Amino acid sequence: MLKICVIGLGYVGLPICLKLAKNFKTIGYDINSKRIDTLKRGVDLNNEFEKKEINIKNLKFSKKIEDLNSSNFYIICVPTPITNSKKPDLRYIDKSFNLLSKILKIGDIIVLESTVYPGVTRSFTKKLEKKTKLLNNHDFSTCYSPERINPGDKDRNLNNINKILAYEGNDEKVRRVITNVYKKISKKLIFSKSIREAETAKGIENIQRDLNIALFNEILMICNKLKLDFNEVVRLASTKWNFINFSPGLVGGHCLPVDPFYLTYIAKKRGYKSKVTLSGRSVNNYMKKYVINFTNFSIKTSKIKKNKIKICIVGLTYKYGVADTRNSQKIDILKYFKRRYKYTKGFDPFLKTTDNLKNHELKKYNFFLFLSKGPKFKKIADLVDKKKIIDPFFYYSN
Ligand SMILES: NC(=O)c1ccc[n+]([C@@H]2O[C@H](COP(=O)([O-])OP(=O)(O)OC[C@H]3O[C@@H](n4cnc5c(N)ncnc54)[C@H](O)[C@@H]3O)[C@@H](O)[C@H]2O)c1
Repeated sequence: MLKICVIGLGYVGLPICLKLAKNFKTIGYDINSKRIDTLKRGVDLNNEFEKKEINIKNLKFSKKIEDLNSSNFYIICVPTPITNSKKPDLRYIDKSFNLLSKILKIGDIIVLESTVYPGVTRSFTKKLEKKTKLLNNHDFSTCYSPERINPGDKDRNLNNINKILAYEGNDEKVRRVITNVYKKISKKLIFSKSIREAETAKGIENIQRDLNIALFNEILMICNKLKLDFNEVVRLASTKWNFINFSPGLVGGHCLPVDPFYLTYIAKKRGYKSKVTLSGRSVNNYMKKYVINFTNFSIKTSKIKKNKIKICIVGLTYKYGVADTRNSQKIDILKYFKRRYKYTKGFDPFLKTTDNLKNHELKKYNFFLFLSKGPKFKKIADLVDKKKIIDPFFYYSN
């Protein structure tokens, strides 16, 4: 009988765990005690799931290794950040494989979902073979399935996102088991015989997006310098059949600011110094400064005295619709203005730690700085006096 264990219950692991628990006996394992304790009470601090979605009969949450002993299908969804010197930080994956080395049995299947650079799955599998004296694709099996989950996106969810499954073994029974499990997660599975290619594919998906947003951020800044209407420029260019449209903005989160450094790290190690892959990073990181300068200029031209400035910053999480503030430049912007103006409020309905912004409060502020694009914020933009709006990315201005 299949007993699934999902290791790491964050933005990726929890949704996978909840989906699988509807069909299989499942354990959700996390080293974070608070995460486990709250999930046991049916509370998702990431604000993605309700109590009734979390309380599933076949599902147990645990932080104890002993509880994993009887599992035979492990899915690893732990973080893959970068270090201060922007190198891949694989210590969470290392810890997960270390854990597996203590409990791995013949017949077990391991799937890595975390974003990595080509060769990572293989190198950890090799270490695992050494420690356990069990052979990969013989005594146990390894698979790589890059995750494309898009938190906060109601249209693209686990059900309808194509899911890549890379398995290099030849055991048809193992392939069937993996397929049957993942069929419960996603309707469309795409198979590959190469784990390294699947690892690379995941990386380039995010690199491409990071670069495209950077290009639009740069076009936006050029348009401002040349006093051109950015939205009109893009509207016109979009009428060409092969023009691809992106929205400028502040790039944050766990993926885009991180993943380019994974591929360039291994490329450099193999003797290729990347020229394009990281070029979006500096532009996208600069946008925080662009927003601050843009806002300071708008405030200055209003001629309102400094001690009379009351500013409300709308949109703080790294993107609209999520509670995640990791690598959010918007939080840095909020901190900057809090230091500068006594009366600065940050507002984001997706962040539980900020207060609500009631309609009658809107009059209190003389500036609203919009940092995210989405229907809830558009509603506010529609309600406030246009002269009060500071809209560095022209989301609501025309
Ligand atoms: N968040 C996204 O939108 C997204 C999308 C696609 C891919 N990814 C990738 O998926 C992976 C996970 O990302 P996330 O956003 O879910 O991270 P997260 O930080 O939200 O969750 C990770 C969880 O793993 C736990 N953890 C850390 N080390 C552990 C260990 N040794 N054993 C058990 N639990 C452990 C943490 O406590 C945390 O709860 C990353 O590689 C990320 O790049 C994320």
